[in-house]
Amino acid sequence: MKYILGILLSILIIYLLLLLLLRDGQSNLSFETSELNNIPLKVPSGFLWGSATSAYQAEGNCFNSNWFLFESEKDENGKPRIKDGQKAGIAADHWNRYKEDIQLMKSLGLNAYRFSIEWSKLEPEEGKFDEAVLDHYEKVIDELRENKIEPMITLHHFTNPIWFEKQGAFTKDNSPKIFARYVAKVFKRLGKKVNYWITINEPTVYAFNGYFFGEFPPAEKNMDKAALVFRNILIAHSEAYLAIKQINLNAKVGIATAIYAFDPNSWWNIADVIGAYYANRNMNEVVLDYITNGRFDFYFPTISKLEYQSDVINSFDFVGVNYYTRFVIRFNPFNDKSYQEVKNTFAEYVTDMSWEIYPEGLYKALKLVSTFTNKPIFITENGIADDGDTKRPSFIKNHLLVMNKAIADGMNVNGYFYWTLMDNFEWAQGFSKRFGLYKVDFNTQERTLREGSKVYPEMIKKFSLF
Ligand code: BGC
Repeated sequence: MKYILGILLSILIIYLLLLLLLRDGQSNLSFETSELNNIPLKVPSGFLWGSATSAYQAEGNCFNSNWFLFESEKDENGKPRIKDGQKAGIAADHWNRYKEDIQLMKSLGLNAYRFSIEWSKLEPEEGKFDEAVLDHYEKVIDELRENKIEPMITLHHFTNPIWFEKQGAFTKDNSPKIFARYVAKVFKRLGKKVNYWITINEPTVYAFNGYFFGEFPPAEKNMDKAALVFRNILIAHSEAYLAIKQINLNAKVGIATAIYAFDPNSWWNIADVIGAYYANRNMNEVVLDYITNGRFDFYFPTISKLEYQSDVINSFDFVGVNYYTRFVIRFNPFNDKSYQEVKNTFAEYVTDMSWEIYPEGLYKALKLVSTFTNKPIFITENGIADDGDTKRPSFIKNHLLVMNKAIADGMNVNGYFYWTLMDNFEWAQGFSKRFGLYKVDFNTQERTLREGSKVYPEMIKKFSLF
């Protein structure tokens, strides 16, 4: 009897130790609103207050992009790839309306704008660059500068030129070099006028939505391939970093990485805790580990594994954090995927994307980055799809209060970019999801400031009082 008790006790102790080990750094956070309200609002000097867009989503007429073809495709059930069969078309016509849009930023008191260059417009055929496209982006930059708005350029925001996609895009080992050639071309022309460069937007979302979840082109569902693409696009990041630094060592180069909060459904169920641990490890930490240590260490037990060591370490001057939501992970042996996401079903806590509203997760995201580096962090995306415009004010306010706490606790946050300036093409969701500070009537392209967005300039003013 004693013997059995001893064994049971040892098992319990090992279980608890394992739990503690895996839970380390994953602690569940909650802040009292009163606690957040009591911290004086203070940001470092030169703080960037911005909004963000991406070329394909906002500009319009991206005929040479892989997404343009994808929009006309159907899935295996004959359903269009994009909700309701929509197509980006002229999107928010930002290509032609950029001057008006810059005035919209200015009227909110913003001093920064993150936007992307559409690679497929600049290099519509392999190796043939269209200088007129660079002329356009140069005009945008000049207009921003005239209005005292700091440009931040993203070089890859999900889309590829068709020729590159047809070659296999980032599944191919030569893809990082091809990407770096395009980056050098852009930087040689625009480098003198732009301080902040983002190589890749959300490597995990690009790789997993395209090659595992099948939501983005090429709509594959293969975890090993997703891991390979994930690795190659990170190599493309470091190649682009080197290409820029070879031209100008002083350029500030970073990456924008999606960071999600992952929590287990039950903190006492080791299977849930393990699920959340690996989700956090693979979806959040791998990118940070790669840019700091050059180490790519991707591992989902029994599913997929890929390791790689780059000679390029510290391939960044700042980290861009895109934060939207938290995922709660539950182990379910009866489900064929064994792990599933638990949805928070209370409507008031979710956005139109069905994403949980969880501002505390932003703290966790910033903290995670801070365990890897002290270099500057920019919140390069944070926003809400909220057509009813009832949740936007508290969403913005609470995320900014949480950011303020992170700064007060010593985290090196230097900017915040709301996603997005105006409604635009929300990828597989088409135009149905409305993230914009400005509402867009897509029949007339008229922009109207949403009531719920007004809290953003109000908060900026409050931060500026100190
Ligand atoms: C992307 C944006 C997208 C936003 C909302 C981010 O993953 O960078 O392009 O519109 O999330 O889904």
